[in-house]
Amino acid sequence: MTRVEKPTAETLSLAAELIRKGEVVAFPTETVYGLGASACDPDAIRKIFAAKGRPQDNPLIVHISSIEDIRKVIKGDMPLHAQKLAEAFWPGPLTMILPKGDSISDVCTAGLDSVGVRLPENECARAFIRACGVPIAAPSANLSGKPSPTTAQHVFNDMNGRIPLILDGGPAGVGLESTVLDARFKPVRILRPGGVTPEMIASVLGEVEVDGSVLKPLKQNEVARSPGMKYKHYAPQGSLIIVKGSEESVAQKICELYDAQEGSKCILALEEHLPLYGTRFCANLGKGPGEAAHSLFGLLREMDEQKVDAIFSEAVETEGIGLAVMNRLGRAAAFHIIEV
Ligand code: TXA
Ligand code: MG
Repeated sequence: MTRVEKPTAETLSLAAELIRKGEVVAFPTETVYGLGASACDPDAIRKIFAAKGRPQDNPLIVHISSIEDIRKVIKGDMPLHAQKLAEAFWPGPLTMILPKGDSISDVCTAGLDSVGVRLPENECARAFIRACGVPIAAPSANLSGKPSPTTAQHVFNDMNGRIPLILDGGPAGVGLESTVLDARFKPVRILRPGGVTPEMIASVLGEVEVDGSVLKPLKQNEVARSPGMKYKHYAPQGSLIIVKGSEESVAQKICELYDAQEGSKCILALEEHLPLYGTRFCANLGKGPGEAAHSLFGLLREMDEQKVDAIFSEAVETEGIGLAVMNRLGRAAAFHIIEV
């Protein structure tokens, strides 16, 4: 049985004690919950891969609690452009890929000579990492193939019996995983969009590239710049179709598809569009892309629990955090997008 505890002085020192013993502890961050172990302890990191059922060649992000600790994680100094981004967006939902330092285990980086490093904003996350006294390797705390967990309950549903402790810091703020940015070269390149948007990065550095795989599947034989992108991501148990276009034509098409569908079915729509669907069964994505980011993973988990056979979702604008929402939604739908 896995313990679930609110962060207090006692539970944080218990968590740190477990980490020092080579155990795995789940903790909240502002993006999603993470499954943490010492980034310097290969046996502990192997337990993370085992608990998640994660492929061995998919590297983990290393989390630090203060900018000074970057020296323990990367090789050499941060390039100037990365320093500027750290100043602007750390602590926060930005992971930077930089040359890997020697003290980080090769198991953590899946043998790569680069490491993804992130300084989270969540107070509990930083208190936990600080108490551990080592950089913390942590992927999202879901079973591989499930949506990332945004509450301690989601983590418990996936990890009960697999890990000793979950720190419960309440629901995650952003709701989608961090932006993963290759910061080794200029222009920097977004491999996975997240809370720190391309617009925000461009406002600091002037330019940023967005990897081609963000809004479409990898082609056959195409090499993934980020190993995580080559895996089939979360896919709902039912079918998922995204419809994109003007408000009215999207609603019309979705109603058509919904009405023709047998079995249990659900529409994912922004709050302002709900009236367009009448009495059809809808799940509310919220007031715009920011709220959609926050609600998406939880809603997808609920649809699986309710065994929904078919989901029809509105597309959201790909500006700002909308790009991250469309990346996750697109991958969940295997990029099955109908344009109207
Ligand atoms: O918000 C987040 O990033 C959460 C919280 C816990 O920090 N973590 C998270 O980790 O989403 P994970 O393991 O679910 O996703 C990490 C992604 C994977 O796609 C992985 O392939 C990529 O980052 N990644 C990690 N290190 C990398 C590296 N050195 N080079 C390229 N991609 C890397
Ligand atoms: Mg993940």
